Amino acid sequence: MPRLAVVTSGGDAPGMNAALRAVVRSAAARDWEVFGVRHGYTGLIGGDLQPLGIRDVGGIIEQGGTILGSTRCERLKSGEGLEGALSTLRTRDIAALIVIGGNGSQTGAWELAQRGAPIVGIASTIDNDLYGTDISIGATTAIDVALQAINQLRVTAAAMTRAFLVEVMGRHCGYLALMAGIAGGAEAIVIPEAELDPEALAHELRAGYLRGKSHAIAVIAEGARYPAEALLGYFHEHRERLGFDVRATRLGHVQRGGAPGVFDRMLGTRLAVAAVEAVMERRFGVLVGVRLGEPAVTPLAEVAGKTRPADARLLQLARVMAM
Ligand code: F6P
Repeated sequence: MPRLAVVTSGGDAPGMNAALRAVVRSAAARDWEVFGVRHGYTGLIGGDLQPLGIRDVGGIIEQGGTILGSTRCERLKSGEGLEGALSTLRTRDIAALIVIGGNGSQTGAWELAQRGAPIVGIASTIDNDLYGTDISIGATTAIDVALQAINQLRVTAAAMTRAFLVEVMGRHCGYLALMAGIAGGAEAIVIPEAELDPEALAHELRAGYLRGKSHAIAVIAEGARYPAEALLGYFHEHRERLGFDVRATRLGHVQRGGAPGVFDRMLGTRLAVAAVEAVMERRFGVLVGVRLGEPAVTPLAEVAGKTRPADARLLQLARVMAM
């Protein structure tokens, strides 16, 4: 039986387990033997592989995280690390490797592919900043987690007539902040793709109060020039002049640990099946993502080292909706 290995790498994302399950079962249906690589690329370098049968992936579609474990592996950036990973693939007679992960992981995948490894990537990161896909596994669940927090913060913001800064993840990309801000009805959104300085943000929040609102919520992307902590300091310093009281909440890793919603379960499943199909067709060195609702492949050469920014034009929509 030909052997397929699958690894989850980088930041875990809700829906990774759904993808793992689908890789194992669709490969098994084609009579391939599947091995799971434990702890990301670190396990690949160290040869930490475990057989994954169809029963081993039962009951995981509803779980966040990844049953294989994951790491951010600095060693893969070195010649020694790459050689170790290639050696594992050779000695364990692995005919194809599927890499479920985001930017750093797919850049690593491209490094391995350039050295002859038969690799197919699957787009998975809550940041949704991967080039080559409209949406990546985990992003919508992470937005839902942020929305739940925003809903609750609005309750206390309204009760206390306070402003709240809610910082969401996303690394250098404002996608999560933009979506959570629009869907959460925020009064202001700050993203790296369209920076707002503290004074301009204060102006937007105050304008909401002047229009009769009892609360003000600003969603701030962690990658913005002024993250929540910096803004909070500024607002406290100018409290008297600005005329409103402010608190800040940094959601952080809470956003990564949600149980995958229906969209991420379906996305993980569909992308994994498409990735196994790519393996069967020997289409290696590609990332499987989504374009216009359908699975689509993009050469890893085009994906590696790039990021996709959020669509800042949506900020205009956000402003009108915050009226
Ligand atoms: O890439 C996913 C992500 O959660 C980013 O949004 C965040 O900046 C980063 O990972 C945090 O990384 P770590 O879990 O290594 O602290």
